Amino acid sequence: AAAGLIDPLGREATDLRVSLTDVCNLRCTYCMPAEGLPSLPRDQALTADEIVRLVTIGVRDLGIRQVRFTGGEPLLRRDLVEIIERCAALEPRPEISLTTNAIGLAERAERLAAAGLDRVNVSLDSLHAETFMKVTRRPFLNRVIAGVDAAAAHGLGPVKINAVLLPGVNDHEAPDLLAWALERGHELRFIEQMALDADHTWSRDSMVTAARVRELLSDRFDLALAVEPRDGAPAERFVATGRTGDDARLHGTVGIIASVTEPFCADCRRTRLTAEGSVRSCLFSHTEFDLRGLLRGGATDLDVADRWREAMWAKPKGHSMNDAGFVQPDRSMSAIGG
Ligand code: GTP
Ligand code: 5AD
Ligand code: SF4
Repeated sequence: AAAGLIDPLGREATDLRVSLTDVCNLRCTYCMPAEGLPSLPRDQALTADEIVRLVTIGVRDLGIRQVRFTGGEPLLRRDLVEIIERCAALEPRPEISLTTNAIGLAERAERLAAAGLDRVNVSLDSLHAETFMKVTRRPFLNRVIAGVDAAAAHGLGPVKINAVLLPGVNDHEAPDLLAWALERGHELRFIEQMALDADHTWSRDSMVTAARVRELLSDRFDLALAVEPRDGAPAERFVATGRTGDDARLHGTVGIIASVTEPFCADCRRTRLTAEGSVRSCLFSHTEFDLRGLLRGGATDLDVADRWREAMWAKPKGHSMNDAGFVQPDRSMSAIGG
């Protein structure tokens, strides 16, 4: 069989992240500017047919085993159910997951699960309306919570909750977020903020490190490194146990995604497709490889697969956020999909 998506360092991409749209209904400060960003003209976004064709090539010819849909906000894609259904019918059946802000998920969780969605990760940075508003610039906390509840109720779990901590904004809330997640059986992950904000204001000082997260939790929780192998996952997992009083009944897993201070690029298994159909071999790539032009120009599946392999050959060694000459990519997180 022909080779999968291997890069010059021998890393093999088996996880595909597909951005379905660059539009979002939140304006998280670490991801988008307050005024939003110009969105992709409709005819430049991949159609459902094009997405399914690319996922098919990935799964059938290139060794992709996990497919994650992202955005912008993937729930804003009207044909999401159809896309999931068609991807779930592929052989071999990939694992299908969604990373979402959960707005509108309450109304759609049941249909998504029936279509073949296996699980969801939800971004949630605060449980307080005011703080939620500070981070996301939108007043939708209750809709997000309803979305998380519905996902769990319809078997889209264990739901992973993604929290980016910002100093002086929501970092004090870390133990409360963990208690909330453990009570409900969700797996919370704290994420170090990466330099992918649209305003290019990221700096090491405006970032809550993994070490700081462990410190913030230590008053109320004991953390022990989880025993299961990490297996290339971005999150380092710990078993958290509440220390005293009401907390003592709390027990479960918490993750820390330390992209900046403890990079995991050497074990990366990811390849990405942007909403307009380009391959990004890394979150921090400065070059992209267009596949949409091939699709629309009548290329064969073999041509497309070859171009995708070629894209991975240009995969950077790592994100280089810790290097002196680091240059942030032009695209912000909302236009990559995380
Ligand atoms: P699971 O398989 O459910 O663990 O998914 P995940 O944690 O890989 O995906 P999710 O979309 O929930 O992303 C969580 C955080 O990890 C986000 O901040 C992503 O930007 C970050 N992330 C995902 N993939 C990569 C990657 O390849 N490199 C880095 N540095 N961060 C990543
Ligand atoms: N750094 C780290 N994580 C980010 N996310 C969005 N922007 C950033 C950033 N600058 C997270 C969101 C979402 C996931 C896809 O990426 O919290 O859960
Ligand atoms: Fe939108 Fe997600 Fe970015 Fe928040 S993190 S602005 S929900 S794309």
